[in-house]
Amino acid sequence: MVITIDGPAASGKGTAAKALAARLGFDYLDTGAMYRAVAWAALQRGISCSDVEALRTLLPQLHLELTPQGILLDGQDITSHLRTPEVGEGASLVAVIPEVRRWLVELQRRHAQGRHLVTEGRDQGTVVFPDADLKFFLTAELPTRARRRWLELQQRGLATDYETVLHELQQRDTRDSTRSDSPLRQPPDAILIDSTHLTPQQVLDIMELHARQRL
Ligand code: C5P
Repeated sequence: MVITIDGPAASGKGTAAKALAARLGFDYLDTGAMYRAVAWAALQRGISCSDVEALRTLLPQLHLELTPQGILLDGQDITSHLRTPEVGEGASLVAVIPEVRRWLVELQRRHAQGRHLVTEGRDQGTVVFPDADLKFFLTAELPTRARRRWLELQQRGLATDYETVLHELQQRDTRDSTRSDSPLRQPPDAILIDSTHLTPQQVLDIMELHARQRL
């Protein structure tokens, strides 16, 4: 069984997907972390995340492995390096490159084989798993998402101001939903959840209810 959760940045997909997978006893896949891993690999090598040619050359040299704990790049656990604003910005730049998407989509489909999976991203219900058993589209109003992301960064000691976070999220939303390859879209058969006025617990309860009806 595959359950997809798509939605814009900082909509709470990660929290919801992880908790839903734990409740159902499913595996969890964070596909954003895979785009972040490619961006991180580029930044580490001094390659700009908008240098398409350099990224095309880099791709075949990378070895990405998904483990229950996170992501290994060339055997090194890089999970703790991925959730910075710089890497998030880089991820949304590398995510417009069709070769990057093709490579990661193949890894995602291979990872899903023989598993019960909750997977989250931007294209999981539309492109990667169009026949998924259950699809959610999780969103929230932009100022709410910006406040949540700002608080998360504060708690992790990455000080930045709210206006900057808001502006960066807005830019990412635009880039993610206007790119030509696999733009962020609500799948027509997805259940829409607007979490603006919901707690993470409420979001999770709604998702679990739908999932249990299909188990
Ligand atoms: O979800 P997260 O913020 O970690 O994703 C980082 C970036 O990776 C997104 O802004 C998006 O551009 C890209 N992404 C994507 N397709 C996915 C997951 C993430 O294009 N399935």
